[in-house]
Amino acid sequence: MCGIIGAVAQRNIVNILLEGLRLLEYRGYDSAGLAVINHNNNLQYLRKVGKVNTLVEAVKQYSLSGETGIAHTRWATHGNPTESNAHPHISNNIIIVHNGIIENYQLLRDILRQRGYSFLSETDTEVIAHLIHWEQCQKNNLLTQVIQRVIPQLHGTYSIVIMDNLNPSRLVAARSGSPLIIGRGEEANFFASDQRALLPVTRRFIFLEEGDIAEITNKTICIWNNIGKIVERAEIVYQIKTDMKDIDKSPYCHYMQKEIYEQPLAIKNTIEKHLCSGLITMAELGPDIDILLRQVQHVQIIACGTSYHSAMVSRYWLEALAKLPCDIEIASEFRYRKSIVRSGSLLITLSQSGETADTLAALRLTKNMGYLGSLTICNVACSTLVRESDFVLITNAGTEISVASTKSFTTQLTLLLMFVIYIARIRGINKLSEKQIVHALQKLPSCIEQILLLDQAIKHLAEVFINKEHALFLGRGTLYPIAMEGALKLKEISYIHAEAYAAGELKHGPLALINPGMPVIVIVSNNELLDKLKSNIEEVRTRGGQLYIFAEKNITFTKSKEMKVIFLPNIEPLLAPIYYAVPMQMLAYHIALIKGTDVDQPRNLAKSVTV
Ligand code: F6R
Repeated sequence: MCGIIGAVAQRNIVNILLEGLRLLEYRGYDSAGLAVINHNNNLQYLRKVGKVNTLVEAVKQYSLSGETGIAHTRWATHGNPTESNAHPHISNNIIIVHNGIIENYQLLRDILRQRGYSFLSETDTEVIAHLIHWEQCQKNNLLTQVIQRVIPQLHGTYSIVIMDNLNPSRLVAARSGSPLIIGRGEEANFFASDQRALLPVTRRFIFLEEGDIAEITNKTICIWNNIGKIVERAEIVYQIKTDMKDIDKSPYCHYMQKEIYEQPLAIKNTIEKHLCSGLITMAELGPDIDILLRQVQHVQIIACGTSYHSAMVSRYWLEALAKLPCDIEIASEFRYRKSIVRSGSLLITLSQSGETADTLAALRLTKNMGYLGSLTICNVACSTLVRESDFVLITNAGTEISVASTKSFTTQLTLLLMFVIYIARIRGINKLSEKQIVHALQKLPSCIEQILLLDQAIKHLAEVFINKEHALFLGRGTLYPIAMEGALKLKEISYIHAEAYAAGELKHGPLALINPGMPVIVIVSNNELLDKLKSNIEEVRTRGGQLYIFAEKNITFTKSKEMKVIFLPNIEPLLAPIYYAVPMQMLAYHIALIKGTDVDQPRNLAKSVTV
């Protein structure tokens, strides 16, 4: 989603802003812009539709330079992706960039029109720029005080950074519902929506809290909280392994491909971090966690998208292994529903980014509802979800840049399984042999390496999809969510319409879709549902559907010309959902390559869904 970077220095900051925008590209965007002011109070700005590179070329052409500046990648919400809708937006001396959505912008627009302002864009952001200008004209005190008067008039979520051409040696920012950080540099300070944008210039970060307003100059940083009191916020010196090497995708062609291939190592890291003397440890959750886990009688999991598919799988595990009833829900539904908390319920949020607006809103909503506590399983240690949850488990996937989640999904599943086994032990459920499962988990990275060796076979299979417009994915049990994940991966990066069904549902409707030529991808594992799934395969075959089956090599099928089977090495059934996610990712990746789509930044999508 939208990305922000701002800088105040004694040197020209144009390249810092452009490099920052490049590092934010992974979030997904459709236009980009930048504004800078130099020592002579000369404001220059440029906005371009499309990639940051187009903006970079334009900046070169017009030789922009300045010591104070703001820049933005925009993911359209209000108004099409056009140059006039791209940020920064300007109202006289006020120049702003904004992430988030102002819900009452229409009303504010009408009021501002009556005050004589005219609008050059369709955005909600331009409203903020005019509002700041209007308030400044009413009482020309410090910009931070002007912003304090503007904030109560804005309904919605936002992070904004403001530059004032009348006072160009400072930037002011405000945060509510959308992440914003300060980076402390040498004779320079910065704002950004994501610390990654600032990695080339600093590792010292201050995370703004809800309702904070901050002002930076090249030497000073000052923060006011939501009641206007000056506050100190902790400075974190970033030790993360996230480095420029994470951003380098060579020798791979795409980040998605790199991240698919990083899965064996990422899963290994996740497993090792949670093992102690051959048993699972959840030391990360603190010394009193066992007391809490013994009280848990129910688990409520909330997530979106791919993370929701992890939730679906973990419900099977929690109920079967830990004997805990579990409900799962998409965050955007949960947050608008009058839900009832079961007694002894633990809330779990799942998120790769830790910034997903709906998941975050759901967490905040549950704060006083009576849950035993909130646990988040997340891949970004400094994210808002992590900061606002009672308990945190970090997946060790490393930075994931491709919009389509791959390694963050499989590490999320791995950690969830380990958590379920741990909770089963705490609850005294001895039916499963933890050591055996740990042993199988330790072999999982090498099993996934075996799948990666099937790249050519999957690539070959992908060729069939060149002219396909639809695809159906089938699975049963824990592999039904993986069928859903396969369908989601395919639609998001290849734009082929894909649906997933629990195979037992075929005859209740989707069988009508089957005709000769309809591709049906089936995930088959050697579990208690195998015979039932084979019957479903027959239902498709007799209607002429083109079957593409992913199955373990010890499973036999009646051969036929409508059926192509990709055989995989055998896997422990408990781990099958983690394992089968990988060929689904590879299939989607190869189909997208053939289709020539933008694999890492698929159209209309964003990595971090902050609105
Ligand atoms: C799909 C994908 C999305 C995210 C969803 C939630 O590949 O990545 O469906 O899973 O937007 O994001 P997180 O996990 O960051 O909360």
